Amino acid sequence: MTTVIRTEDVWKTYSLGSPRQVDAVKGASIEIPKGVITGIGGPSGSGKTTLLSLIGLLTKPSKGKVFIEDKELSALSEVFRTRFRRERIGFIFQAQYLIPQLTATENVAIPKLCTDTSRGEAERLAREKLSGLGLGHRLDFRVAELSGGEQQRVSIARSLMNSPEILIADEPSSSIEEALTKDLLATLRDMVDRDELTVIVASHDPLVLGWCDRLYTMRNGEIMTQ
Ligand SMILES: Nc1ncnc2c1ncn2[C@@H]1O[C@H](COP(=O)(O)OP(=O)(O)OP(=O)(O)O)[C@@H](O)[C@H]1O
Ligand SMILES: [Mg+2]
Repeated sequence: MTTVIRTEDVWKTYSLGSPRQVDAVKGASIEIPKGVITGIGGPSGSGKTTLLSLIGLLTKPSKGKVFIEDKELSALSEVFRTRFRRERIGFIFQAQYLIPQLTATENVAIPKLCTDTSRGEAERLAREKLSGLGLGHRLDFRVAELSGGEQQRVSIARSLMNSPEILIADEPSSSIEEALTKDLLATLRDMVDRDELTVIVASHDPLVLGWCDRLYTMRNGEIMTQ
């Protein structure tokens, strides 16, 4: 099995001004294999979101290394990390950061507008992704007019716009009911099987964790089990 992401004794310390500091992640060494779904469980405050932001190149470790396909990305410049992140990684966050006044299509088109794609082409692709997630009848609705589960799917469609190889999801089921969580999991499973997408998901939800192929559990910033 190919390893896509590997962390080596990674630490993240937040300094809140001396003497207060929080070791949010303490010496995590994990391996994320390609084309499977890896779950990260653990209680609130145990470091799951922080670990995802290290793996997703959103933040640099205080100590230790993050490798993607054997390149040590934790050591590279912010410009390179940003480009890598934009081209290869998709994110589904707890807070969805959608723009309520824009339509579903306009929200989903945004990541493509940051590349040199034309607006027409970006919106065509956005409609395709939204329709694939069962939102073909809501393309021109403003996000403010959509239900929580529909907004969640808009956010997923947006995370897929640049056809990422790695998808990082933080509590993807937190704002949707069980039936929609099952739909979401089935959609992700299809993409993993069809496109060899690599998914990393942090969650409290036993339904989500039970459906992962592999599981890490965090406690107090440390990885407990594999
Ligand atoms: N930006 C920050 N500045 C200071 N401390 C932070 C910051 N982000 C997180 N922390 C602290 O790091 C610890 C781990 O937080 P993290 O968000 O990674 O936990 P989590 O496992 O994702 O929790 P939850 O399940 O509630 O989302 C917490 O104690 C938190 O207070
Ligand atoms: Mg979290």
